[in-house]
Amino acid sequence: MTVDIVILAAGKGTRMRSRLPKVLQKLAGKPLLSHVLDTAGQIENSRLHVVTGHGADKVQQAFPDYNINWILQTEQLGTGHAVMQALPSLAAEGKTLILYGDVPLVTGPSLQTLLAETTATRLALLTVKLANPHGYGRILRNNNGAVTGIVEEKDASEQQKTIAECNSGIMAVDNTVLAKLLPKIGNQNAQQEYYLTDLVELAVADGLQVSGICTVSEMEVQGVNDRKQLAALERSWQQLQAGRLMEMGVNLLDPARIDIRGKLVCGQDVSIDINCIFQGEVSIGHNVEIGANCIIGEAGSRVVIGDNVVIKPNSIIEQGVIGDDCVLGPFARLRPGTELASGVKIGNFVETKNSQIGRGSKVNHLSYIGDAEIGENVNVGAGTITCNYDGVNKHRTVIRDEAFIGSNTSLVAPVTIGFKATVGAGSTVNRDVDNEELAVARANQKNIKGWPRPKKK
Ligand code: UD1
Ligand code: CA
Repeated sequence: MTVDIVILAAGKGTRMRSRLPKVLQKLAGKPLLSHVLDTAGQIENSRLHVVTGHGADKVQQAFPDYNINWILQTEQLGTGHAVMQALPSLAAEGKTLILYGDVPLVTGPSLQTLLAETTATRLALLTVKLANPHGYGRILRNNNGAVTGIVEEKDASEQQKTIAECNSGIMAVDNTVLAKLLPKIGNQNAQQEYYLTDLVELAVADGLQVSGICTVSEMEVQGVNDRKQLAALERSWQQLQAGRLMEMGVNLLDPARIDIRGKLVCGQDVSIDINCIFQGEVSIGHNVEIGANCIIGEAGSRVVIGDNVVIKPNSIIEQGVIGDDCVLGPFARLRPGTELASGVKIGNFVETKNSQIGRGSKVNHLSYIGDAEIGENVNVGAGTITCNYDGVNKHRTVIRDEAFIGSNTSLVAPVTIGFKATVGAGSTVNRDVDNEELAVARANQKNIKGWPRPKKK
């Protein structure tokens, strides 16, 4: 049996005060709607339908990689109206799961539970008990505890407003039930909207049962309506991530000062100092030390760090592979295509890009290594630059094992420095240097005896 998943994302998000449609605002580095899509994607045999309205073009363009049936709701007449737009796209038989684009952290297991509870004679709602239920629809139950309806805050009596159990908005319904009852929803209410929540009362009147599944996690049903809620949810999410890391054995110097905007996997005895940000997919081996203020990874990229690596403060690793026993930073910047073998040292103010650096080699100070292949045990002196770009094309620099590059050398690519070759400091090298040769390419020094210093006039 198929599961149709309808995600409501047509609202304007007025309270965000943004030009960006609300569902494109980011939580943990990815759009709110991506969170929902990724969780929905865990449901097998499912088809995704997203109802858009405000900023529909922008929203659609933001998700080129998902297989989505986009449905346009030209006027936002309420959540019930939004689902009505999707009705023609739904399978005749099966179940439909209704999710909200602005409720990003709902979990796969909760969705599975809702689906399992749903039959041709029973629909299922995800509910939550909140200390401050203000703004939410309240769940009405009879004396036997059975759900009988949902009343919106704006339509609730004073007595109903004291009910703590709230509607998350997320529900699962049999498609035949949806097709039968959805057209019966009217808009006679405080907001003159077609409320999806009225489906519950209609179902009960039709002799159906309603199962209210109460989650204990407030976070998974929290909606994002304004910047404060977005920031609060971000902090809750980060706190959860930090907790997971510590359970895995990671030492966080301050769990309140780490941000994970992607996926971070760590081995044992990894220590992370304050204010580090992890983005994209980051995998860290055992016994790794990460100093304060490091940014590791980028959205959509992958960073792999081996064992016994030390990353000193203020380093930025955009993408790459770092072998065991490497020491980086402080203030190192590793750009995409960087591959460090084991025991490599990259020091302060060194930038690498699209370069492979062999075992035990050192680039310790103030260098740019771009489009280069550096062998083993090479020493690159301070201030060495690979001149990889001629203004039109990029060229490669090759430095063979055990070469020694003197400080302040410019290596004008394409150029190869041979095995055990030496380049004198301050050289501009634009011809290949053979194995074990010395290249010196700088103006000869002139010393003038008894030279008179200029005198002040
Ligand atoms: C809704 C529920 C409320 C619940 C709350 C939980 C209704 C009537 N109320 O209220 O019971 O406690 O969510 O967060 O369902 N949307 C559309 N088209 C529309 C209207 C809304 O796509 O015409 C989308 C919005 O973009 C949003 C979602 O539906 O993603 C919820 O709409 P919103 O207006 O935020 O509903 P709430 O008032 O929060
Ligand atoms: Ca809402």
